[in-house]
Amino acid sequence: MSNDHDEALARAFDAQAPRFERAPVQSDPAALERLVQFAGFPPGSRILDAGCGPGLVCGALLAAGYRVVGVDLSREMIERARRRCEPWGDRAEFHHLSLFDTALDDLAPFDGALSRYVVHHVIDPLAFAARQVHLMRAGGTLVISDHLTDPQPELAGHHEAIERARDQTHTTNLTGGQLVDLLYRAGLGQIAFLEESFELDFDEWFDRGTPRDSKDHVRAKLLTGPAIRGFRPSVQPDGSIRIDCLRGMVRGRKPTENAP
Ligand SMILES: C[S@@+](CC[C@H](N)C(=O)[O-])C[C@H]1O[C@@H](n2cnc3c(N)ncnc32)[C@H](O)[C@@H]1O
Repeated sequence: MSNDHDEALARAFDAQAPRFERAPVQSDPAALERLVQFAGFPPGSRILDAGCGPGLVCGALLAAGYRVVGVDLSREMIERARRRCEPWGDRAEFHHLSLFDTALDDLAPFDGALSRYVVHHVIDPLAFAARQVHLMRAGGTLVISDHLTDPQPELAGHHEAIERARDQTHTTNLTGGQLVDLLYRAGLGQIAFLEESFELDFDEWFDRGTPRDSKDHVRAKLLTGPAIRGFRPSVQPDGSIRIDCLRGMVRGRKPTENAP
């Protein structure tokens, strides 16, 4: 592990792996299928899944006929990904590595790269995107998907404070526009963006986190705060709290020599 943040991520995801892979927001098969369709990788492509977690996205890519190489900081996540993707034999391989580990250069170039729900855990989103671009062949497609936040900085700040209170490894959520800019700054062209809504149940979401703050405090902060685009709570008739969220998917193409 290269730094304290990576070590904290590995510990957090080793511990939350069983809950994580059952969480509706991660495991929803229709959402996974929409992500694979949005990516539109050419048939037969070999795809890098950066921060593959328990292999849910890998499974969807494999079911669609692709080959995958999954990497993750968490050993527990990698073991779960291996077990989940066993039915696809040597079309899938998994490595307990950081995306930034130079050992990954020996497995490059990839035809495409994808990461879901990882950017809000990284310290430097541009370095994270640029590393994947570096590992792809010219003409390859990079896809990033993540929860979105509000374009107004003070509302994004309030959102971030809640996320950080619930999860010690949370860094920052981006807006849809910032995700698009990220791919542009990483040198990609032909950029496309899609936004969709999803719901979280407050208890399910909080209970698989690594909180800094008490559940009561986070709940109160959420319910008494301003209306945030992409993070809107409502109390349900049974007393549970639903949070209406947004996720973005962005894809871009690495230029070839002749076509930018
Ligand atoms: C929220 S989980 C998402 C898992 C999976 N992508 C999914 O959507 O089901 C984030 C994962 O990214 C991994 N991760 C974060 N930074 C990483 C890095 N630099 N290299 C490899 N894995 C990383 C974490 O260990 C964790 O398993």
